[in-house]
Amino acid sequence: MAGGADIAWLDGAFLPLAQARISPLDRGFLFADAVYEVLPVYEGRVYRLEQHLDRLERSLREIRLPPPLTREAWRSVFGGLVARNGRGDLLIYLQVSRGAEPERSHVPRGIAAPTVFAFASKVPPPLADPDSRAIACVTSADIRWGRCDIKSTALLANVLLKWRAQDAGAVEAVLLRDDMLTEGSSSSVHVLLDGVLLTPPQSSAVLPGTTRDVLFEIAPRCGIECRQEAVPEAALRGSGEVLLASAGGGLRSVVALDGRPVGDGRPGPAFRRLYRCWWESRREFSTECSE
Ligand code: PDD
Repeated sequence: MAGGADIAWLDGAFLPLAQARISPLDRGFLFADAVYEVLPVYEGRVYRLEQHLDRLERSLREIRLPPPLTREAWRSVFGGLVARNGRGDLLIYLQVSRGAEPERSHVPRGIAAPTVFAFASKVPPPLADPDSRAIACVTSADIRWGRCDIKSTALLANVLLKWRAQDAGAVEAVLLRDDMLTEGSSSSVHVLLDGVLLTPPQSSAVLPGTTRDVLFEIAPRCGIECRQEAVPEAALRGSGEVLLASAGGGLRSVVALDGRPVGDGRPGPAFRRLYRCWWESRREFSTECSE
């Protein structure tokens, strides 16, 4: 099970998570005026470090917030968090808000320093067996806002969508907008059609997923063509293999959708090949960070 790790980093210092405090006037709390990142750590090494920092800087640019730390400083924060939380397998959560101003005002006055908070969760190492990655999903209407390409902390729609999926005995909600696939409530979705792995093209309707990009890199290594292409609802429902990709969940195989089996109801051959390659390449795609 995932569990809290003890040491966090807040605005320049490491401290016990239980002692971390931010202002109730923080714009992240008042307006969800904040962005975040989730970085996996495998065996003490940060996975796809630079790609996560690229996306963080992009999110910050899109919300008009200058990067509060340099790349070197981020690496040192991650290195410190990993070392202080026992190395091993973790998820690092990094939250950057526009900070606390003395008065509530939609338009920021530009007088606050951003709040920067990073903490970690201990997670079990992924098993090598692809059958351990089988999950059930349900479809839902994509009720989120129009800038899903920004990794914003405004996740209320995602919370409600995943909660509803859980009520239906599923792990993830696969989202549809205007009869087209967008993504999952916290994952990218890939669909095998005529032997090609398709995922919706990058747009404001989907997050530029870092694990999705890993799939683009490793799929050719196992002889699978991977393309960005629009996926109509009918294609999703007719597909023999549906995959989820995310930093938190790695690669997962959707074996049931809305209570009906996908393919023969077990992870399919394309997933098995991709998962093996993903599992074996974790070290190659991760970096040792020192404080
Ligand atoms: N979620 N789409 C959405 C809406 C997501 O929230 C995520 C990740 C992804 C996949 O992106 P990546 O491969 O970079 O994790 C796609 C993270 C893990 C989370 O919120 O916990």
